[in-house]
Amino acid sequence: CLIQHYGLFVVEWKNVTRLCSTKPLLTVNGEYPGPTIAVHEGDNVEIKVTNHIADNTTIHWHGIRQLRTGWADGPAYITQCPISGGKSYTYKFTVQYQRGTLWWHSHYAWQRASVYGAFIIHPRMPFPFSAPIQDEFPIIFGEWWNGDVDEVENEMMKYGGGPNSSDAYTINGLPGPFYPCSNKDTFIKTVERGKTYLLRIINAALNDELFFAVANHTLTVVEIDAVYTKPFTTTAIMVAPGQTTNVLLTANQVPDSSGTFLMAAWPYLTSVFPFDNSTTAGFLRYKNTETENIKHPQKMPSTFEPNKYNLPKMEDTKFVTEFSDKLRSLASPQYPCTVPKTIDKQVVTVVSLNLQDCPANKTCKGYEGKRFFASMNNQSFVRPSLSILESYYNKLRNNEYSTDFPEKPLKPFDYTGVVPVSENMNTQFGTKLLEVPYGTNLEIVLQGTSFLNVENHPIHIHGHNFFIVGRGFGNFNVAKDPAKYNLIDPPERNTVAVPTGGWAAIRFKADNPGVWFIHCHLEEHTSWGLASGLIVQNGPRASQCVLPPPKDLPSC
Ligand code: C2O
Repeated sequence: CLIQHYGLFVVEWKNVTRLCSTKPLLTVNGEYPGPTIAVHEGDNVEIKVTNHIADNTTIHWHGIRQLRTGWADGPAYITQCPISGGKSYTYKFTVQYQRGTLWWHSHYAWQRASVYGAFIIHPRMPFPFSAPIQDEFPIIFGEWWNGDVDEVENEMMKYGGGPNSSDAYTINGLPGPFYPCSNKDTFIKTVERGKTYLLRIINAALNDELFFAVANHTLTVVEIDAVYTKPFTTTAIMVAPGQTTNVLLTANQVPDSSGTFLMAAWPYLTSVFPFDNSTTAGFLRYKNTETENIKHPQKMPSTFEPNKYNLPKMEDTKFVTEFSDKLRSLASPQYPCTVPKTIDKQVVTVVSLNLQDCPANKTCKGYEGKRFFASMNNQSFVRPSLSILESYYNKLRNNEYSTDFPEKPLKPFDYTGVVPVSENMNTQFGTKLLEVPYGTNLEIVLQGTSFLNVENHPIHIHGHNFFIVGRGFGNFNVAKDPAKYNLIDPPERNTVAVPTGGWAAIRFKADNPGVWFIHCHLEEHTSWGLASGLIVQNGPRASQCVLPPPKDLPSC
């Protein structure tokens, strides 16, 4: 029996206080984080989004495949014109062939700084893991700014530089005890000894990959990006912006007199740059311990020793590499792995930061000389002023986008040396997408660079899941590396963290007709142009074509 879910989202300002600083925060229904959507596999979903602010907005259902319903995907100017102030738009879609934890967020400007929430798809079949689950709860990482996020974004666009530091990381909207004036804003979850819990972990932070761990406890990874994995046990996880990870935690420890264990998240950085290196924390509180009545843990560690709490060091790339290697698809008869064994097309693209003079038509007011941009194959993506999907669907001719995305790097390259090759550091501006026939088995090799050597690029593709068939450090070798691909049980997900100074190869069947945004899920990099789009043509059958647009689709 399939269920129809109706929801109402009102995008509105609400005064919120954190770190003793009160400011109007953009919210959905006044909630921060926003409401959790919980459905079952196969359900139809209708969510009416009403915009009660002066600025535009949209909502994206991150990781939902939106089979043939690209109109409901949400990225502004890619699949829809934004919803303007006072207007509404109803997102209608069916959740098919997916189960697990995903999330939703605004896909307009930097609104996802506070407009986000969990999207949970309960399975129709029992979980394929054995421990009975007592309870489940989301752990959503975010960031809090005391100031106005629009101003942070404007600065980024103007100067294209400077570390983008929020004032705190958060767990479920709460910074926790390591920040000033934040003790009472600490996430606490009560557990019973001997019971097992499902933690639905989501990284909604704008710009930071994060490590997460719980003192004294291990975590068993069972699912990533709403796809089951072969279970494995670890002391910590790394989760990049856009990614989700489900873990099982068994409350099998004996707490000290505080009755609690610390859970904490801090960034994974490949160099210790002056980015935000602070720590958000919460507590697991054991039920029926003597101190259960202590409302908030009273003793905070004054100096933070990460390994005491299972947290890897911030620059622990070795941990990240080993952790990523353990992520494998279940590849069972019930949940087979559908990775394409052969491919129809290979695209190799550099994903990079760039140094470039700001072009005259860009807003770099008052700033002379070179500044940072970001690109794919030295093309910085410029968002058009219309909806590409609508234009494409209606076969409208215009100069706002083209389908000549370069399928290879512009020059032979060595992006992974210590000194960046200067001629590769510039970029061009345009709206170039890649167009493929329905059903193309596509391989995309994402080549990271060592420029600045700061962080991985978490590359997200809309409308599809993909298999990460290979990863490595250094330059991708077309002749040698494919021989080492995992085509048996590669992890399947919607966002891949491309290693700094390394590469990741992904494969998937482009079987969802429409226009799909591809971008780095570090918001700063998307704004600087690290994006492109994939156009998947209609297939020969009616069931392989984009459905007609809804009547209430916003116009530009
Ligand atoms: Cu989570 Cu294009 O987005």
